[in-house]
Amino acid sequence: MNAIEELVNSLPKAELHLHIEGTLEPGLKFELAARNNVDLPYDSVDQMRAAYDFADLPSFLVQYYEGMTVLLTQDDFYDLAMAYFRRIAAQNVVYVEMFFDPQAHTTRGVDFGTVISGIRRAQHDAEEQFSIRSQLIMCFLRDLATESAAETLNQASEYRDWIVGVGLDSDERDNPPIKFQQVFIDARSQGYKLTMHCDVDQDDSVVHLWQCVSDIGVDRIDHGVNALEDDQLVAEITRRGLGLTVCPISNGYVTDGTKSTEIKTMLDKGMLVTVNSDDPAYFPGYMTENLVTAQREANLSNDEVVRLVRNAFTVSWLSDADKQSYLSRVDEVVGAL
Ligand code: ADE
Ligand code: ZN
Repeated sequence: MNAIEELVNSLPKAELHLHIEGTLEPGLKFELAARNNVDLPYDSVDQMRAAYDFADLPSFLVQYYEGMTVLLTQDDFYDLAMAYFRRIAAQNVVYVEMFFDPQAHTTRGVDFGTVISGIRRAQHDAEEQFSIRSQLIMCFLRDLATESAAETLNQASEYRDWIVGVGLDSDERDNPPIKFQQVFIDARSQGYKLTMHCDVDQDDSVVHLWQCVSDIGVDRIDHGVNALEDDQLVAEITRRGLGLTVCPISNGYVTDGTKSTEIKTMLDKGMLVTVNSDDPAYFPGYMTENLVTAQREANLSNDEVVRLVRNAFTVSWLSDADKQSYLSRVDEVVGAL
């Protein structure tokens, strides 16, 4: 490990933009396919990896949804989440707010309860075994009808205490934030925190960002790099203290670059930008690799790396006391360097 990798690895870290289904590594995918008698269109891990040459968000989503067909039982979801927790324990990630996509499973005939119970059991065991705390964010698939999102919000009511917030993901083209305004108003009234993907370099990215901020009133923005194209938007995001969860390695796969320079610009402008891994089994790299990528490509100073790490705790959906306690742990490590 070089010096920057050592610094990044040694800092206690929070991850705020992580799709649990996007952590399904090829090896586990084959294992679950065999366990559940599901046919995969690949003969080997290498062949599967070779198919992961995405040009944009839609071409990634094809592989992402195809991969999920092996997830059928509560144990499958448990094994998926435990594999992720095991990996990030080795990187000193201590807190996670992770997305799950219930509609990607209920539309295949897998019960909402099966999905969330398996993940919940893994969250509990990860806290016991690795001291990793986590909270769940339920994402609606924006390329499905609003009625389906509303039905999913209803299904979640039985598990209200297991879910901290709601998000919006999948294909953004022709699926603007405003399409889901009513569902998000309803979610807010039920006490959920709100976030939405504003993926990078989409058609009408800036319009979508304004909808997120002004019409929906989100608590955080996932990605949101294109905000830099509009000074007023930058000012409004900053005034509201909204965090942005940027994912450099993911960006490198589905856009023309990792957007690390933009991450530095956001820091320079005082925006609460964070670095995350998105779908690390598909865009190879967990938290450490993503932070190291941003550091290398934008030549970030140690202070800037530490600010990225601190920002994640600051904009997390933890209590103020818990935030302070994690931030003190970061400061202790920095102080000891
Ligand atoms: N689903 C999983 N990862 C996603 C991403 N980065 N953008 C939109 N939908 C997603
Ligand atoms: Zn994402």
